[in-house]
Formats: sequence, structure tokens, C-alpha cells
Amino acid sequence: MKGSIVLFGPPGAGKGTQATRIVEYTSKPQVSTGDMLRAALSNGTELGLEAKSFMEAGELVPDGVILRLISERLKMDDARNGVLFDGFPRTIAQAEELAKIAEVSAVISIQVPDDSIVQRIVGRRMDPETGEIFHVDFKPAPESIVNRLVQRKDDNESTVRNRLKAYHEQTSPLATWYDNQGLLIRVNGEQTIKQVGDEIFSQMFSVR
Ligand code: AP5
Repeated sequence: MKGSIVLFGPPGAGKGTQATRIVEYTSKPQVSTGDMLRAALSNGTELGLEAKSFMEAGELVPDGVILRLISERLKMDDARNGVLFDGFPRTIAQAEELAKIAEVSAVISIQVPDDSIVQRIVGRRMDPETGEIFHVDFKPAPESIVNRLVQRKDDNESTVRNRLKAYHEQTSPLATWYDNQGLLIRVNGEQTIKQVGDEIFSQMFSVR
């Protein structure tokens, strides 16, 4: 498939989880603005410091900061044939800027109701060595690595409420924006991880 693919949905919908399989199949690199911001933060860069308070409060980082990150990332060699965006764009302004610099060929919207989101996010754990995402109930990690798993600083109940508010107010209007361009593919995110992946693959690539 030519162009870039966007993984779209509320926080905790399963964008990062599903990205792994799509990256393997398409060979497009995953471009997660959340991961890039967390890396900038842990490296103590100016951009990371600019983003810190917004991320910790569960608010969106200003468009200018995000667009700086993205335009640099898209100049890299591996982005030549498109990328898999995860968590970007998140505002109409970001989508409009993206349209000027890259072609988007599909937007996969993973739909999960708010009630399930809090449980997913509060139970999420990450393996810092491999980056693999687990969940205490839905995707338990092997016993041998449980001790090294970490929890994201913004994965607490009060921050999740703010992230959901930001999603509904600033991000969800983008679904209609992309739907009007005939790019939106809706997937039921309230199934098992495997079933969500299968639905994405049958709708996107006609394979399971
Ligand atoms: P970001 O890192 O993008 O976080 P997010 O959008 O809130 O998304 P998550 O990473 O929390 O969730 P996900 O959908 O990837 O779910 P996952 O697969 O992990 O952004 C963090 C912050 O950075 C933002 O709040 C903002 O401040 C800033 N930011 C980032 N991008 C920005 C932008 N473009 N503009 C402005 N600000 C930006 O799954 C979640 C859990 O559920 C896991 O434990 C997983 O195992 C489990 N799970 C997954 N699928 C299923 C399933 N089907 N059934 C049961 N459990 C499941």
C-alpha cells in the first residue's frame, strides 16, 4: 500500500498493541508521537521539557511542538514509502499540516467506549527492554519478566479522565474529517487483541 496509515482512537484503544502486527506486514515504520515525546523527555531535550507539563496533566501538547517532531521524522530515509502513525494527528490543525507533507491512504479508527478505557490504561504495563505492551488482566506478561515491567507516569485514573476529555473535545472531530475524505475504516476495539487485529487485516488488506 502506498502512502501512510494512521492508527486513530482514544487513549488505551489498542493503537500501540495493533501497530506491531501492521508494521510486520507492511514494513512501514511506526511513528508514535507519544513514544517520541517520552524519549525527548527522558533525554532531557528542550522539546521534551516543553511537552512535560502537558503530558503529565493529560492534555495535548501544542501543535507546533508536535509538527516540529513529525516534519523532522518524515525526512528520514525509512519514511520514504510512508509510515504508520500512532497517536498522530490528534487535531484538525495537525491533520491539515500533515496533508501538506505526506499522503495518507487509510485511517484505522479503533472504537472503544470510555468505560473500558480506564480499566485498560490503569492495568497497562510495559517492558522497558523490548517495548512490548502488556496488561495485568488482558495480556499478562510471562512470570520471568514481571519484575522489570514499568507503568507510565500518565497511566493513572485522574490523568486518564483528562486524556479522554482532550480526545472527545479535540481529537474525535478528526474522524468525521477523514470520513468525509473516504479514508476512515472503523474497527470494533472491544474484542480480544487477536480479533481486533483480524478485523483490521480483513478490512485493510483482505487477509486474516
Ligand atoms: P500517547 O502515548 O499517544 O498515548 P494515548 O493516545 O493516550 O494512547 P496510549 O498509548 O495510552 O494507548 P494505545 O491506544 O496505544 O493503547 P495500548 O495498545 O497501549 O500520548 C501520551 C501523551 O502525549 C498525550 O496525552 C499527549 O499529552 C501527548 N501527545 C502524544 N501525541 C500527541 C499529539 N499528536 N498531539 C498532542 N499531544 C500528543 O493498549 C492499552 C492497554 O490495553 C494495554 O495494556 C493493552 O495490553 C491493552 N489492550 C489493547 N488492546 C486490547 C484489547 N483488544 N482487549 C483488552 N486489552 C487490550
